[in-house]
Amino acid sequence: MIDKKDIETRADIDDLMNRFYARAMTDEKIGYIFEIAELDLEHHLPITGDFWETMLFSTGNYHRHGRNPLQIHALLDEKTPLRPEHFRRWLEIFRASVDEAFVGERADFIKLRAQMIGNRMSNFVSGIPALAR
Ligand code: HEM
Repeated sequence: MIDKKDIETRADIDDLMNRFYARAMTDEKIGYIFEIAELDLEHHLPITGDFWETMLFSTGNYHRHGRNPLQIHALLDEKTPLRPEHFRRWLEIFRASVDEAFVGERADFIKLRAQMIGNRMSNFVSGIPALAR
């Protein structure tokens, strides 16, 4: 049993990302998508870490990459369709990864943000907002 605490630092975000991708990349419903994307974790993890650091701690680190997650997922959707059920599964895994190790205001906030962004992304790529809110 891990002693749960809130997400306090970049190291906590990195820890969360490691937990999340370990699950997502081997998941029976969405794991194959990461293979099609040929995701290179060594390259990807620092960028996603910057994304969530910017969300939680307003560091602005993500902006220096000049990237747009909606666009990136729209391109991915052209390679392999991202459907509402994929977004729902993605969010389920994300929430479980947060709850496994963290509890608190930021833990709640990051789950809420993931839900809101996932909804927007799903709407953007397929015209269907997959997740309530
Ligand atoms: C169907 C669900 C999803 C799948 C299968 C998926 C998969 C992926 C993959 C394969 C990439 C790497 C793309 C590339 O670099 O070519 C990526 C990037 C990323 N995803 Fe997702 N994703 C999903 C939903 C989400 C959601 C809901 C969020 C919420 C925030 C999110 C956040 C990100 C971020 C921040 C990046 C990095 C963007 C960048 O490189 O600048 N993803 N995703």
